[in-house]
Amino acid sequence: MDKLSLVKEQQRKKILKQWQQIVNRQLIERSIHTKLIQTDVWNQAQTIGITISKGLEWDTEQLIHKAWQQGKRIAIPKSNPQDYSMSFHHYQSGDRLKKVWAAIWEPLTSDVSIIEKDNIDLMIVPGIAFSKNGLRIGYGGGFYDRYLQDFTGDTVSLAADFQIVDTIYGEKHDKPVDMLISNFGKIYCKHT
Ligand SMILES: Nc1ncnc2c1ncn2[C@@H]1O[C@H](COP(=O)(O)OP(=O)(O)O)[C@@H](O)[C@H]1O
Ligand SMILES: [Mg+2]
Repeated sequence: MDKLSLVKEQQRKKILKQWQQIVNRQLIERSIHTKLIQTDVWNQAQTIGITISKGLEWDTEQLIHKAWQQGKRIAIPKSNPQDYSMSFHHYQSGDRLKKVWAAIWEPLTSDVSIIEKDNIDLMIVPGIAFSKNGLRIGYGGGFYDRYLQDFTGDTVSLAADFQIVDTIYGEKHDKPVDMLISNFGKIYCKHT
């Protein structure tokens, strides 16, 4: 493993440990949710790309239901571990999901319901650690780095205060997110 990967792995482990140990989880989660749904990008988005949260992650089920209530369209990813690519699929209330590798829930059908990248207005980008300029450490697959290369919609990540670190070493392929929503407020990530 090269030095950069090693540093990232250490940062990942550190934050995951803190994530496991938080005591006021629901308070933080509620605060993040409330702030997200008040943003312009959320309110203006007709189609939102979002994952089905699992494990430690901030819940997305409530956000998906909120979006449905507001008449928005939800697109969830189906990943292809062979080439680390993803496609997004229309997800409607009552649609069945299946559990795939890494215990991720994905849409059952793959072909009928694809939502093209250009039609996703807002992407909620998952991640473990973030810097204030929007760089991110994910789970190590680089799925979103690849998908976001030519994505032109808005990008937002949900990141509690402890997930925001001073330095993340960016690589060529890194696409910083536009905004972080923490329990303390919004952070606009300046892209230079
Ligand atoms: N756009 C891309 N094109 C080619 N390889 C990529 C791209 N984005 C990421 N990768 C590769 O995928 C792997 C995982 O990316 P990394 O950024 O470490 O993961 P994550 O963002 O999930 O933490 C790395 O080997 C990285 O070089
Ligand atoms: Mg990355």
